[in-house]
Amino acid sequence: MARTTPVVRAGTLILYVGKHEQQFTVDTPVWYAWLEEVSTFAFISDVGTFTARKEPRQHSGAYWKAYRKRNGKLHRAYLGKSHDVTLERLNSVAALLSELSATSDREASGNETLQARQASITPQPPNVIATQRLTSPESAPKHNLPPQLTSLVGREQDEAAAEQLLQRPEVRLLTITGPAGVGKTRLAFQIATDLLESYPDGVYFVNLAPLRDSDQVLLTIAQTLALREMGGQTFQVLLKASLQDKHLLLVLDNFEQVITAAPLLTELLEACHELKLLVTSREVLHLRAEHQFPLPPLGLPNLTHLPASDALAKYAAVDLFLQRAQAVKPGFRLTSANASSVAEICTRLDGLPLAIELAAARINVLTPQVLLARLSHRLRVLTSGTRDVSARQQTLRNTIEWSYQLLDAPEQRLFRRLSVFVGGGTLEAVEAVCVTLGVEAELVLDGVASLTDKSLLQ
Ligand SMILES: Nc1ncnc2c1ncn2[C@@H]1O[C@H](COP(=O)(O)OP(=O)(O)OP(=O)(O)O)[C@@H](O)[C@H]1O
Ligand SMILES: [Mg+2]
Repeated sequence: MARTTPVVRAGTLILYVGKHEQQFTVDTPVWYAWLEEVSTFAFISDVGTFTARKEPRQHSGAYWKAYRKRNGKLHRAYLGKSHDVTLERLNSVAALLSELSATSDREASGNETLQARQASITPQPPNVIATQRLTSPESAPKHNLPPQLTSLVGREQDEAAAEQLLQRPEVRLLTITGPAGVGKTRLAFQIATDLLESYPDGVYFVNLAPLRDSDQVLLTIAQTLALREMGGQTFQVLLKASLQDKHLLLVLDNFEQVITAAPLLTELLEACHELKLLVTSREVLHLRAEHQFPLPPLGLPNLTHLPASDALAKYAAVDLFLQRAQAVKPGFRLTSANASSVAEICTRLDGLPLAIELAAARINVLTPQVLLARLSHRLRVLTSGTRDVSARQQTLRNTIEWSYQLLDAPEQRLFRRLSVFVGGGTLEAVEAVCVTLGVEAELVLDGVASLTDKSLLQ
Protein backbone atom coordinates (compact mmCIF):
# COMPACT_ATOMS: atom_id res chain seq x y z
CA MET A 1 0.00 0.00 0.00
CA ALA A 2 1.26 3.45 -0.81
CA ARG A 3 2.51 5.37 2.19
CA THR A 4 0.76 8.68 2.69
CA THR A 5 2.70 10.15 5.61
CA PRO A 6 5.86 11.91 4.41
CA VAL A 7 9.03 10.30 5.74
CA VAL A 8 12.50 11.64 6.44
CA ARG A 9 15.09 8.89 6.09
CA ALA A 10 18.85 9.21 5.66
CA GLY A 11 18.62 12.98 5.36
CA THR A 12 16.05 12.78 2.57
CA LEU A 13 12.41 13.72 2.61
CA ILE A 14 10.28 11.20 0.74
CA LEU A 15 6.71 12.12 -0.07
CA TYR A 16 4.00 10.84 -2.31
CA VAL A 17 1.99 12.96 -4.65
CA GLY A 18 -0.66 10.49 -5.77
CA LYS A 19 1.37 7.37 -6.56
CA HIS A 20 4.47 9.32 -7.43
CA GLU A 21 7.35 9.43 -5.05
CA GLN A 22 9.26 12.69 -4.68
CA GLN A 23 12.50 13.22 -2.82
CA PHE A 24 14.09 16.35 -1.37
CA THR A 25 17.16 16.86 0.73
CA VAL A 26 16.65 18.00 4.30
CA ASP A 27 18.19 21.39 5.28
CA THR A 28 17.64 22.90 1.82
CA PRO A 29 15.35 25.90 1.13
CA VAL A 30 12.75 23.47 -0.33
CA TRP A 31 12.73 21.57 2.98
CA TYR A 32 12.08 24.67 5.07
CA ALA A 33 9.41 25.91 2.65
CA TRP A 34 7.75 22.47 2.78
CA LEU A 35 7.77 22.52 6.61
CA GLU A 36 5.80 25.77 6.55
CA GLU A 37 3.05 24.08 4.53
CA VAL A 38 2.56 20.72 6.22
CA SER A 39 1.65 19.49 9.68
CA THR A 40 3.24 16.05 10.14
CA PHE A 41 6.01 13.70 9.01
CA ALA A 42 7.77 10.60 10.25
CA PHE A 43 11.48 10.56 11.05
CA ILE A 44 13.38 7.29 10.71
CA SER A 45 17.08 6.88 11.45
CA ASP A 46 19.54 4.51 13.12
CA VAL A 47 19.45 6.76 16.17
CA GLY A 48 15.68 6.47 16.57
CA THR A 49 12.29 7.11 15.05
CA PHE A 50 9.48 9.49 15.88
CA THR A 51 6.46 11.29 14.49
CA ALA A 52 6.74 15.06 14.14
CA ARG A 53 3.66 17.25 14.45
CA LYS A 54 3.17 20.95 14.07
CA GLU A 55 1.22 22.69 16.80
CA PRO A 56 -0.34 26.04 15.96
CA ARG A 57 -0.01 29.01 18.31
CA GLN A 58 -2.41 31.89 18.48
CA HIS A 59 -0.12 34.87 18.14
CA SER A 60 3.11 33.61 16.70
CA GLY A 61 4.31 30.96 14.32
CA ALA A 62 3.64 27.25 14.86
CA TYR A 63 6.01 24.84 16.62
CA TRP A 64 7.08 21.32 15.77
CA LYS A 65 7.09 18.63 18.41
CA ALA A 66 8.35 15.04 18.21
CA TYR A 67 6.38 12.10 19.65
CA ARG A 68 7.39 8.52 20.30
CA LYS A 69 5.17 5.96 21.98
CA ARG A 70 6.70 3.01 23.74
CA ASN A 71 5.06 0.50 26.09
CA GLY A 72 1.96 2.66 26.31
CA LYS A 73 3.98 5.74 27.29
CA LEU A 74 4.13 8.74 25.05
CA HIS A 75 7.43 10.60 25.10
CA ARG A 76 7.71 13.96 23.48
CA ALA A 77 10.25 16.66 22.81
CA TYR A 78 10.38 20.05 21.20
CA LEU A 79 11.84 20.41 17.74
CA GLY A 80 11.28 24.17 17.44
CA LYS A 81 9.93 26.43 14.74
CA SER A 82 10.19 25.28 11.13
CA HIS A 83 13.49 27.10 10.59
CA ASP A 84 14.98 25.27 13.63
CA VAL A 85 14.23 21.82 12.21
CA THR A 86 17.66 20.93 10.85
CA LEU A 87 18.89 17.38 10.27
CA GLU A 88 21.18 17.78 13.26
CA ARG A 89 18.22 18.77 15.44
CA LEU A 90 16.12 15.84 14.13
CA ASN A 91 18.92 13.40 14.99
CA SER A 92 19.51 14.83 18.45
CA VAL A 93 15.80 14.70 19.30
CA ALA A 94 15.59 11.13 17.95
CA ALA A 95 18.47 10.18 20.28
CA LEU A 96 16.78 11.90 23.23
CA LEU A 97 13.47 10.11 22.63
CA SER A 98 15.26 6.74 22.25
CA GLU A 99 16.92 7.33 25.57
CA LEU A 100 13.59 8.15 27.24
CA SER A 101 11.97 5.06 25.67
CA ALA A 102 14.86 2.83 26.74
CA THR A 103 14.37 3.98 30.30
CA SER A 104 10.67 3.14 30.21
CA ASP A 105 11.54 -0.27 28.63
CA ARG A 106 13.78 -0.99 31.61
CA GLU A 107 10.96 -0.09 33.94
CA ALA A 108 8.45 -2.19 32.05
CA SER A 109 10.77 -5.23 32.20
CA GLY A 110 9.44 -5.87 35.69
CA ASN A 111 11.93 -4.82 38.29
CA GLU A 112 10.38 -6.28 41.43
CA THR A 113 11.81 -3.78 43.88
CA LEU A 114 10.62 -0.91 41.74
CA GLN A 115 7.14 -2.38 41.47
CA ALA A 116 6.98 -2.98 45.21
CA ARG A 117 8.10 0.56 45.86
CA GLN A 118 5.68 1.97 43.34
CA ALA A 119 2.85 0.09 45.00
CA SER A 120 3.73 1.47 48.41
CA ILE A 121 4.27 5.13 47.61
CA THR A 122 2.45 6.14 44.47
CA PRO A 123 2.08 9.87 45.08
CA GLN A 124 -1.51 11.01 45.28
CA PRO A 125 -1.65 14.73 45.79
CA PRO A 126 -4.78 15.85 47.57
CA ASN A 127 -5.50 18.53 45.03
CA VAL A 128 -5.15 16.68 41.74
CA ILE A 129 -7.26 18.75 39.44
CA ALA A 130 -9.18 17.24 36.57
CA THR A 131 -7.06 18.71 33.81
CA GLN A 132 -5.62 15.44 32.64
CA ARG A 133 -5.58 15.49 28.92
CA LEU A 134 -5.52 11.82 27.98
CA THR A 135 -8.80 10.01 28.14
CA SER A 136 -7.79 6.56 29.37
CA PRO A 137 -7.30 6.51 33.14
CA GLU A 138 -4.21 4.25 32.98
CA SER A 139 -2.32 6.59 30.70
CA ALA A 140 -3.50 9.86 32.28
CA PRO A 141 -0.46 11.82 33.43
CA LYS A 142 -0.33 12.35 37.18
CA HIS A 143 -0.11 15.95 38.22
CA ASN A 144 -1.53 18.71 40.39
CA LEU A 145 -1.23 21.55 37.88
CA PRO A 146 -4.21 23.89 37.92
CA PRO A 147 -5.62 25.00 34.57
CA GLN A 148 -4.47 28.50 33.62
CA LEU A 149 -7.34 30.97 33.36
CA THR A 150 -5.63 33.48 31.07
CA SER A 151 -3.62 33.10 27.87
CA LEU A 152 0.18 32.85 27.84
CA VAL A 153 1.53 35.64 25.65
CA GLY A 154 4.87 35.52 23.83
CA ARG A 155 7.42 33.22 25.49
CA GLU A 156 7.44 30.59 22.73
CA GLN A 157 11.20 30.78 22.48
CA ASP A 158 11.78 30.77 26.23
CA GLU A 159 9.38 27.85 26.56
CA ALA A 160 11.11 25.82 23.87
CA ALA A 161 14.61 26.67 25.12
CA ALA A 162 13.82 25.83 28.75
CA GLU A 163 12.12 22.58 27.79
CA GLN A 164 15.01 21.52 25.63
CA LEU A 165 17.38 22.18 28.51
CA LEU A 166 15.27 20.30 31.02
CA GLN A 167 14.95 17.32 28.69
CA ARG A 168 18.73 16.95 28.51
CA PRO A 169 19.73 14.02 30.73
CA GLU A 170 22.54 15.95 32.42
CA VAL A 171 20.26 18.84 33.41
CA ARG A 172 18.67 17.84 36.72
CA LEU A 173 17.95 21.26 38.18
CA LEU A 174 16.82 24.23 36.12
CA THR A 175 16.23 27.55 37.89
CA ILE A 176 14.10 30.15 36.16
CA THR A 177 15.38 33.41 37.63
CA GLY A 178 14.19 36.96 37.20
CA PRO A 179 12.65 39.93 38.97
CA ALA A 180 9.24 40.03 40.59
CA GLY A 181 6.37 39.60 38.16
CA VAL A 182 8.50 38.80 35.09
CA GLY A 183 6.52 35.59 34.60
CA LYS A 184 8.66 32.84 36.17
CA THR A 185 5.77 30.94 37.71
CA ARG A 186 3.64 31.33 34.62
CA LEU A 187 6.38 29.91 32.40
CA ALA A 188 7.09 27.08 34.84
CA PHE A 189 3.40 26.07 34.71
CA GLN A 190 3.52 26.03 30.93
CA ILE A 191 6.69 23.95 30.81
CA ALA A 192 5.35 21.52 33.41
CA THR A 193 2.10 21.11 31.46
CA ASP A 194 3.93 20.63 28.16
CA LEU A 195 6.18 17.95 29.64
CA LEU A 196 3.51 15.90 31.45
CA GLU A 197 4.00 12.89 29.25
CA SER A 198 7.77 12.91 29.76
CA TYR A 199 7.43 12.12 33.47
CA PRO A 200 5.49 8.88 33.93
CA ASP A 201 5.54 9.21 37.72
CA GLY A 202 4.09 12.67 37.65
CA VAL A 203 4.64 16.41 37.61
CA TYR A 204 3.98 18.21 40.89
CA PHE A 205 3.87 21.88 41.68
CA VAL A 206 5.08 22.80 45.16
CA ASN A 207 4.14 26.28 46.32
CA LEU A 208 6.87 27.58 48.61
CA ALA A 209 5.60 31.19 48.67
CA PRO A 210 3.76 30.88 52.00
CA LEU A 211 6.79 29.40 53.83
CA ARG A 212 8.78 31.53 56.23
CA ASP A 213 11.03 28.75 57.46
CA SER A 214 13.50 26.83 55.25
CA ASP A 215 13.05 23.79 57.50
CA GLN A 216 9.57 23.38 56.07
CA VAL A 217 10.67 22.73 52.48
CA LEU A 218 10.93 18.95 52.60
CA LEU A 219 7.74 18.67 54.64
CA THR A 220 5.92 20.79 52.06
CA ILE A 221 7.20 18.63 49.19
CA ALA A 222 6.16 15.46 51.05
CA GLN A 223 2.72 16.93 51.74
CA THR A 224 2.23 17.90 48.10
CA LEU A 225 3.09 14.34 47.09
CA ALA A 226 0.82 13.02 49.87
CA LEU A 227 3.65 10.83 51.17
CA ARG A 228 2.91 9.23 54.47
CA GLU A 229 5.46 9.24 57.25
CA MET A 230 6.38 5.80 58.51
CA GLY A 231 8.11 4.97 61.81
CA GLY A 232 9.35 8.44 62.69
CA GLN A 233 11.79 8.73 59.78
CA THR A 234 12.86 12.23 58.71
CA PHE A 235 11.24 13.84 55.67
CA GLN A 236 14.64 13.69 54.02
CA VAL A 237 14.78 9.89 54.39
CA LEU A 238 11.14 9.57 53.38
CA LEU A 239 11.56 11.64 50.24
CA LYS A 240 14.80 9.96 49.20
CA ALA A 241 13.28 6.49 49.59
CA SER A 242 10.04 7.46 47.89
CA LEU A 243 11.51 9.24 44.90
CA GLN A 244 14.57 7.06 44.40
CA ASP A 245 13.57 5.58 41.05
CA LYS A 246 10.77 7.91 40.11
CA HIS A 247 10.70 9.72 36.78
CA LEU A 248 9.20 12.75 38.37
CA LEU A 249 9.34 16.50 37.84
CA LEU A 250 8.98 18.72 40.88
CA VAL A 251 8.30 22.40 40.28
CA LEU A 252 9.52 24.33 43.32
CA ASP A 253 7.97 27.79 43.15
CA ASN A 254 9.40 30.90 44.87
CA PHE A 255 12.55 29.29 46.18
CA GLU A 256 14.05 32.71 47.10
CA GLN A 257 11.79 32.46 50.10
CA VAL A 258 13.66 29.44 51.49
CA ILE A 259 17.04 29.91 49.82
CA THR A 260 19.04 28.45 52.70
CA ALA A 261 17.37 25.09 52.03
CA ALA A 262 19.10 24.91 48.62
CA PRO A 263 21.73 22.30 49.66
CA LEU A 264 18.91 19.88 50.50
CA LEU A 265 18.06 19.83 46.80
CA THR A 266 21.56 18.59 45.97
CA GLU A 267 21.10 15.73 48.42
CA LEU A 268 17.75 14.87 46.93
CA LEU A 269 19.14 14.87 43.39
CA GLU A 270 22.08 12.70 44.42
CA ALA A 271 19.77 10.12 45.99
CA CYS A 272 17.08 10.16 43.29
CA HIS A 273 18.67 9.62 39.91
CA GLU A 274 15.61 10.16 37.74
CA LEU A 275 14.23 13.16 39.60
CA LYS A 276 14.22 16.55 37.89
CA LEU A 277 13.69 19.91 39.57
CA LEU A 278 12.31 23.01 37.92
CA VAL A 279 12.74 25.90 40.33
CA THR A 280 11.49 29.46 40.12
CA SER A 281 13.35 32.01 42.18
CA ARG A 282 14.10 35.70 42.22
CA GLU A 283 17.53 34.63 43.42
CA VAL A 284 20.11 32.20 41.99
CA LEU A 285 20.50 29.06 44.15
CA HIS A 286 24.27 28.72 43.56
CA LEU A 287 24.30 24.92 43.46
CA ARG A 288 26.73 22.94 41.34
CA ALA A 289 23.89 21.03 39.66
CA GLU A 290 22.04 24.24 38.87
CA HIS A 291 21.43 25.41 35.31
CA GLN A 292 20.21 28.98 35.28
CA PHE A 293 17.50 30.25 32.99
CA PRO A 294 17.33 34.03 33.38
CA LEU A 295 13.91 35.07 32.12
CA PRO A 296 13.88 38.40 30.27
CA PRO A 297 10.89 40.76 30.29
CA LEU A 298 8.41 40.62 27.39
CA GLY A 299 9.48 42.01 24.00
CA LEU A 300 9.03 45.77 23.55
CA PRO A 301 8.85 47.96 20.44
CA ASN A 302 11.45 50.61 19.77
CA LEU A 303 9.81 53.89 20.76
CA THR A 304 11.96 55.91 18.39
CA HIS A 305 10.89 53.83 15.35
CA LEU A 306 7.38 52.91 16.35
CA PRO A 307 5.66 50.55 13.86
CA ALA A 308 2.09 51.12 12.67
CA SER A 309 -0.59 50.36 15.26
CA ASP A 310 -1.62 47.03 13.69
CA ALA A 311 2.00 45.80 13.74
CA LEU A 312 2.51 46.80 17.38
CA ALA A 313 0.61 43.80 18.75
CA LYS A 314 3.42 41.58 17.46
CA TYR A 315 5.44 42.73 20.47
CA ALA A 316 4.57 40.49 23.38
CA ALA A 317 4.37 43.30 25.94
CA VAL A 318 1.85 45.23 23.80
CA ASP A 319 -0.04 42.05 22.98
CA LEU A 320 -0.40 41.28 26.72
CA PHE A 321 -1.58 44.83 27.43
CA LEU A 322 -4.13 44.55 24.64
CA GLN A 323 -5.46 41.17 25.73
CA ARG A 324 -5.80 42.17 29.38
CA ALA A 325 -7.34 45.54 28.45
CA GLN A 326 -9.90 43.75 26.27
CA ALA A 327 -10.79 41.54 29.23
CA VAL A 328 -12.03 44.60 31.14
CA LYS A 329 -13.15 46.64 28.11
CA PRO A 330 -14.14 44.35 25.23
CA GLY A 331 -14.17 47.08 22.58
CA PHE A 332 -10.63 48.28 23.33
CA ARG A 333 -8.44 48.46 20.19
CA LEU A 334 -5.08 49.86 19.23
CA THR A 335 -5.64 52.95 17.09
CA SER A 336 -3.34 55.54 15.61
CA ALA A 337 -4.48 57.84 18.45
CA ASN A 338 -3.60 55.52 21.38
CA ALA A 339 -0.87 53.20 19.97
CA SER A 340 2.11 55.31 21.01
CA SER A 341 0.74 55.75 24.55
CA VAL A 342 0.22 51.99 24.90
CA ALA A 343 3.74 51.31 23.60
CA GLU A 344 5.15 53.86 26.03
CA ILE A 345 3.20 52.43 28.98
CA CYS A 346 4.63 48.97 28.27
CA THR A 347 8.12 50.43 27.98
CA ARG A 348 7.79 52.47 31.18
CA LEU A 349 6.76 49.24 32.88
CA ASP A 350 9.92 47.56 31.57
CA GLY A 351 7.94 44.85 29.78
CA LEU A 352 7.07 43.25 33.15
CA PRO A 353 3.90 41.16 32.74
CA LEU A 354 2.69 41.75 36.30
CA ALA A 355 2.97 45.54 35.91
CA ILE A 356 1.39 45.42 32.43
CA GLU A 357 -1.54 43.37 33.72
CA LEU A 358 -2.08 45.79 36.61
CA ALA A 359 -1.94 48.78 34.25
CA ALA A 360 -4.22 47.25 31.58
CA ALA A 361 -6.83 46.53 34.25
CA ARG A 362 -7.23 50.31 34.62
CA ILE A 363 -8.30 50.78 30.98
CA ASN A 364 -11.98 50.58 31.90
CA VAL A 365 -11.62 53.90 33.75
CA LEU A 366 -8.57 55.61 32.21
CA THR A 367 -7.59 56.22 28.59
CA PRO A 368 -4.06 55.08 27.65
CA GLN A 369 -2.99 58.73 27.49
CA VAL A 370 -4.19 59.47 31.04
CA LEU A 371 -2.83 56.16 32.33
CA LEU A 372 0.58 57.05 30.88
CA ALA A 373 0.52 60.47 32.53
CA ARG A 374 -0.34 58.85 35.87
CA LEU A 375 2.43 56.31 35.65
CA SER A 376 4.82 58.71 37.30
CA HIS A 377 3.00 57.51 40.42
CA ARG A 378 3.64 54.00 39.19
CA LEU A 379 3.33 52.15 42.46
CA ARG A 380 0.03 53.77 43.40
CA VAL A 381 -1.68 53.27 40.04
CA LEU A 382 -0.69 49.65 39.73
CA THR A 383 -3.09 48.05 42.13
CA SER A 384 -5.08 45.02 41.16
CA GLY A 385 -8.86 44.95 41.25
CA THR A 386 -8.73 41.17 40.98
CA ARG A 387 -9.48 39.24 44.16
CA ASP A 388 -7.93 35.87 43.28
CA VAL A 389 -4.37 37.21 43.04
CA SER A 390 -2.02 36.54 45.96
CA ALA A 391 -1.62 39.50 48.33
CA ARG A 392 2.06 39.80 47.45
CA GLN A 393 1.16 40.40 43.78
CA GLN A 394 -1.91 42.56 44.29
CA THR A 395 0.14 45.70 44.01
CA LEU A 396 3.52 46.33 42.50
CA ARG A 397 4.48 47.93 45.79
CA ASN A 398 3.78 44.68 47.68
CA THR A 399 5.74 42.72 45.11
CA ILE A 400 8.84 44.89 45.49
CA GLU A 401 8.35 45.00 49.26
CA TRP A 402 8.40 41.19 49.37
CA SER A 403 11.82 41.11 47.64
CA TYR A 404 13.09 43.95 49.82
CA GLN A 405 12.14 42.16 53.04
CA LEU A 406 14.22 39.17 51.94
CA LEU A 407 17.41 41.30 51.83
CA ASP A 408 19.78 41.58 54.77
CA ALA A 409 20.22 45.01 56.40
CA PRO A 410 23.32 46.17 54.40
CA GLU A 411 21.64 45.07 51.14
CA GLN A 412 18.49 47.00 52.07
CA ARG A 413 20.66 50.08 52.72
CA LEU A 414 22.40 49.76 49.36
CA PHE A 415 19.08 49.22 47.58
CA ARG A 416 17.72 52.44 49.15
CA ARG A 417 20.82 54.36 48.02
CA LEU A 418 20.58 52.97 44.51
CA SER A 419 17.08 54.33 44.14
CA VAL A 420 18.65 57.66 43.07
CA PHE A 421 19.76 55.95 39.85
CA VAL A 422 16.28 55.83 38.34
CA GLY A 423 17.39 55.43 34.74
CA GLY A 424 20.39 53.20 35.59
CA GLY A 425 23.99 54.11 36.35
CA THR A 426 27.54 52.81 36.01
CA LEU A 427 29.18 50.83 38.78
CA GLU A 428 31.69 53.68 39.20
CA ALA A 429 28.89 56.21 39.71
CA VAL A 430 27.20 53.92 42.25
CA GLU A 431 30.50 53.43 44.08
CA ALA A 432 31.16 57.18 44.10
CA VAL A 433 27.75 57.97 45.62
CA CYS A 434 27.98 55.19 48.20
CA VAL A 435 31.57 56.04 49.18
CA THR A 436 30.58 59.65 49.84
CA LEU A 437 27.86 58.23 52.06
CA GLY A 438 30.50 56.26 54.00
CA VAL A 439 30.23 52.76 52.43
CA GLU A 440 33.49 50.99 51.49
CA ALA A 441 33.99 50.47 47.74
CA GLU A 442 34.43 46.64 47.99
CA LEU A 443 31.22 46.36 49.95
CA VAL A 444 29.44 48.25 47.19
CA LEU A 445 30.74 45.81 44.58
CA ASP A 446 29.68 42.80 46.71
CA GLY A 447 26.30 44.37 47.36
CA VAL A 448 25.67 45.19 43.70
CA ALA A 449 26.61 41.61 42.74
CA SER A 450 24.25 40.26 45.37
CA LEU A 451 21.34 42.52 44.34
CA THR A 452 21.88 41.47 40.72
CA ASP A 453 21.78 37.81 41.81
CA LYS A 454 18.50 38.55 43.52
CA SER A 455 17.05 40.13 40.37
CA LEU A 456 16.68 43.55 41.99
CA LEU A 457 19.28 45.11 39.70
CA GLN A 458 19.98 44.55 36.03
N1 LIG B 1 3.87 35.47 29.15
C1 LIG B 1 2.78 35.81 29.87
N2 LIG B 1 1.57 35.88 29.28
C2 LIG B 1 0.50 36.22 30.00
N3 LIG B 1 0.51 36.52 31.30
C3 LIG B 1 1.68 36.46 31.94
C4 LIG B 1 2.89 36.10 31.26
N4 LIG B 1 3.91 36.12 32.15
C5 LIG B 1 3.36 36.47 33.31
N5 LIG B 1 2.05 36.67 33.20
C6 LIG B 1 1.13 37.09 34.26
O1 LIG B 1 1.82 38.10 35.00
C7 LIG B 1 1.63 37.92 36.39
C8 LIG B 1 2.99 37.72 37.07
O2 LIG B 1 3.56 36.53 36.58
P1 LIG B 1 4.23 35.46 37.55
O3 LIG B 1 3.42 35.29 38.79
O4 LIG B 1 4.53 34.24 36.76
O5 LIG B 1 5.56 36.24 37.92
P2 LIG B 1 6.78 35.72 38.77
O6 LIG B 1 8.03 36.04 38.01
O7 LIG B 1 6.58 34.31 39.18
O8 LIG B 1 6.67 36.70 40.03
P3 LIG B 1 7.14 36.46 41.55
O9 LIG B 1 8.63 36.70 41.58
O10 LIG B 1 6.36 37.49 42.29
O11 LIG B 1 6.77 35.07 41.95
C9 LIG B 1 0.70 36.74 36.54
O12 LIG B 1 -0.63 37.20 36.64
C10 LIG B 1 0.88 35.96 35.26
O13 LIG B 1 -0.25 35.20 34.91
MG1 LIG C 1 6.19 33.41 40.99
